[in-house]
Amino acid sequence: DIPNLASTLGTSYDVGAAIDLSALNPQDPHAQLLVKHFNSITAGNFMKIDAMQPREGEFVWSDTDRLVEFAENNNMRVRGHTLVWHSQVPEWFFTSPDDASQPATREQLLARVKTHIQTIMQRYQGKVHTWDVVNEVISDGGGLRNEASGSKWRDIIGDVDGDGDDSDYIELAFRYAREADPNAVLVINDYGLEGSVNKLNDMVELVENLLAKGTPIDAVGFQMHVSMYGPNVQQIREAFERIVALGVNIQVTELDVSIYSGSSEQEKPVTDELMMQQAYRYKELFDLFQEFDQRGVLDSVTVWGLADDGTWLDNHPVQGRKDAPLLFDRKLKAKPAYWALVDATTLP
Ligand code: G3I
Repeated sequence: DIPNLASTLGTSYDVGAAIDLSALNPQDPHAQLLVKHFNSITAGNFMKIDAMQPREGEFVWSDTDRLVEFAENNNMRVRGHTLVWHSQVPEWFFTSPDDASQPATREQLLARVKTHIQTIMQRYQGKVHTWDVVNEVISDGGGLRNEASGSKWRDIIGDVDGDGDDSDYIELAFRYAREADPNAVLVINDYGLEGSVNKLNDMVELVENLLAKGTPIDAVGFQMHVSMYGPNVQQIREAFERIVALGVNIQVTELDVSIYSGSSEQEKPVTDELMMQQAYRYKELFDLFQEFDQRGVLDSVTVWGLADDGTWLDNHPVQGRKDAPLLFDRKLKAKPAYWALVDATTLP
């Protein structure tokens, strides 16, 4: 076996990367980078709802079949991202099948989400081992994301069993998923949990409540779009602890380490010194992951992109500034952050 990051680091968790379709083309150098360093793959976009089912009942399998085949051929595993999300959902999903000017009813939306989840999960049973069943359900302002904070799911489905709780669409999504593939690891995924205590509190309360009702949640995914400057390791450790205390595992699902401290910082040059500072940051994060790995509660760590040339952060809404948040640079060369992980003696 060729050593990859997981085997070099001796982790029992997978070390994966999110990719674009082009990385599955063996002629593309990204494919070589992927196979050489990672043992898990996540589709950065092409397993989302709009890609999988652009029109009702028309599932698009070509790209995801390729992904699964590529992973099989290269002895890698696949994380599925994502089945229920408020973003990248085609319009038809939430509209009435009879009158496109009307919203779908609760029953219509539930039937659609069940079909969506089960058709995809059954096709990839045993091939996609983990699924982000629901993504980003907590709103930044507190509570479940709703129409006002950009999601139609909660408002249309609401409180199905009349117990005064409006998280039923989440509970049902997990139940449909478990029914479709009893062996898949089922994840509730979100961003900012490590940085916002309010958001973490909401997640803890939600998961606690769902577990109490027997909802089959196996892990909480921390996206971890963090910065070189924060949140600090102790805060992240405490956030992980809160989730582990609930009796579910943690996953790091979309790690990247921005060189900016916040959205208002101006574009800056990517200096050697900056990259060295970033290396220390990556190192301290992976040291933290190791603590949780040793306790057997961390399933996987995925970086959100193979190399800096493909980071989503370059499309930053505020000012289109370039970032450099990953382990490999724009020429696909290993950065100090990579070397810091595989050999700490490279750090000055
Ligand atoms: O495919 C089109 C292409 O045809 C067109 O030329 C180009 C011009 O804008 O756009 C391309 O689509 C873009 C797509 O990324 C592929 O690059 C979309 O506009 C753009 O919205 C989309 O952004 C993705 C974003 O999710 C959408 O919500 C990012 O790549 C992807 O990295 C990002 O991933 C999310 C996770 O799923 C959930 N957590 C946060 C994370 C970062 O936002």
